[in-house]
Amino acid sequence: MSSFPSYRPRRLRRTPALRNLVRETQLAPAQLVLPVFVREGKKLRRSVGSMPGVNQTSVDEMLRDAEVAAKAKVGGIILFGVPETKDATGSSAWDEKGAVQMGVQALKKEIPDLVVITDVCMCEYTDHGHCGVLKNGEVDNDATLELLSRAALSHAAAGADIVAPSDMMDGRVQAIRSALDKNDFSGVSILSYAAKYASAYYGPFREAAESAPQSGDRRGYQMDPGNSDEAMREVLADIEEGADAVMVKPAGPYLDIVARVKAQTGYPVAAYQVSGEYAMICAAADRGWIDKDRVMMESLLGIRRAGADFIVTYFATDAARQL
Ligand code: PBG
Ligand code: ZN
Repeated sequence: MSSFPSYRPRRLRRTPALRNLVRETQLAPAQLVLPVFVREGKKLRRSVGSMPGVNQTSVDEMLRDAEVAAKAKVGGIILFGVPETKDATGSSAWDEKGAVQMGVQALKKEIPDLVVITDVCMCEYTDHGHCGVLKNGEVDNDATLELLSRAALSHAAAGADIVAPSDMMDGRVQAIRSALDKNDFSGVSILSYAAKYASAYYGPFREAAESAPQSGDRRGYQMDPGNSDEAMREVLADIEEGADAVMVKPAGPYLDIVARVKAQTGYPVAAYQVSGEYAMICAAADRGWIDKDRVMMESLLGIRRAGADFIVTYFATDAARQL
């Protein structure tokens, strides 16, 4: 490499056209996935206090939001369900008339080109708010696998392109893959939340999904924030079990993990810019302390630059519109 004065990096920064020519990382609408919270009912739209611009919606209203996203060329949508009834095993998770299942059907009918992903977890459906069934006050890993498989199957039957288990039970990718294959859904992909950390950044989501654990926390199954080698073991295990793509979550505080997973696997990598990351940007912008649009775009570009192929973000439609 030459050095100053022959090397002058500022030369290629002089005009927008020059900067565009040599920009290494691109952000495109097709790489963004919009999370939505669906509940039963009609014409329902309830705002989520800690997430400005995010709502719980009935399927009909969700379709309106999805149309706006699709028009902005957003690549996909991920559905979370807010059920009317909860019980100890979360049995409404595989209700074929549930909000997620009905939402998937409606989306595939109305907007077939939008990739439809479903979040597979029990916490929205259990009365105790944990991501699996409890036994002696602990989440029972192996008993939960069966329930997750049933939920994933019901999403596949409704027409989901991708199911995304976010529960962090060991062996769930294998369990879901084999349940899908046995039922003629070998074409349905699995995006595993492979490196999902026990994070304080999920706070606003738990208001949106009404899924806060009633006692204790999720540290017994989600990952310890200090660990990076373990993230690689989780990711490799999920790939071995049949994951088609792997996700790192949260995104912003875990960009080292995103980079490492991409470099070491070569698999499609997603990153989830979670509710707390979204809420912080909105709150600071609301106070006039930062420029919302610029921070939004910079945060998303940073996640792409770290190695994520696509990003789950509450900014999906806003960002796609600007691109
Ligand atoms: C459910 C789930 C959570 C998120 C996605 N799926 C919450 C949690 O694990 O407590 C968080 C998403 C966000 O904060 O935006 N397992
Ligand atoms: Zn959960």
